[in-house]
Amino acid sequence: MRLIAIASGKGGVGRTTIAANLGIALAELGKSTIIVDAGLTTPDLALLFKLEKSVYTINDALAGEISISEVLYTGPKGVKIAPAAVSLDQMRRAKPEYLAGLMRTVPEGTDFVIIDTPSGLRRETIAALRASREVLLITIPDMVSVSDCMKTRLISEFLGLSPIGMVLNRVRGEEFEISAKEIESILNVPVIGLIPEDEDANRALNKGIPLIILEPKSRAARAIGALAERLVKTKK
Ligand SMILES: Nc1ncnc2c1ncn2[C@@H]1O[C@H](COP(=O)(O)OP(=O)(O)OP(=O)(O)O)[C@@H](O)[C@H]1O
Ligand SMILES: [Mg+2]
Repeated sequence: MRLIAIASGKGGVGRTTIAANLGIALAELGKSTIIVDAGLTTPDLALLFKLEKSVYTINDALAGEISISEVLYTGPKGVKIAPAAVSLDQMRRAKPEYLAGLMRTVPEGTDFVIIDTPSGLRRETIAALRASREVLLITIPDMVSVSDCMKTRLISEFLGLSPIGMVLNRVRGEEFEISAKEIESILNVPVIGLIPEDEDANRALNKGIPLIILEPKSRAARAIGALAERLVKTKK
């Protein structure tokens, strides 16, 4: 089983969009896949999959009250989603440190666990990284995002995670953008995916339907599909 943190330094660079659509793409490729929202205080994955009314969430499992199987909801293409809670009370009870232990109890036969990791270096972020074995770093092609990613790269290395590579999101192809080559030399990890700026991503978000389902032929959806194929091919 592969446990992959989808992480970045800076917020708002597309981690949730990529985690959700990558998870669906992996499921479509026949891989048994779970997407976990480790953003216990920012439960965006629930909103993206219209699971905000879920009775049980990963927060309950992280409060030691129920098992992981009870918080797995089935999404498009059979992907399983462990949403985080929307209510404040549920948020408070969860213990992020339990995530690593909880990940050892996911159903047998699971091929991929994709962990939507919070930005920055807060308690939940470290807990999500500790619960993972590999890290896929996400950045947009600007200096602040790339430089913030450096810290996440260093921390994840310190925690013993294998870096799979970088994904460059919201690429517009402007001459002032930082190129994949520059990013590779700054961060010393290969860029394994380029996702273009695509307004369909926002359209999908606002319609509450994942991009890869709403617009499977959009440029961003195809790039995420290619990333899924690449992940399946790369052995840990
Ligand atoms: N390739 C893309 N093209 C256009 N818009 C995109 C693309 N990827 C993501 N977005 C948009 O960027 C915004 C932030 O995306 P998302 O919520 O996935 O980022 P995040 O890193 O998870 O943010 P947060 O730090 O808030 O958790 C959303 O409005 C999303 O629709
Ligand atoms: Mg997010």
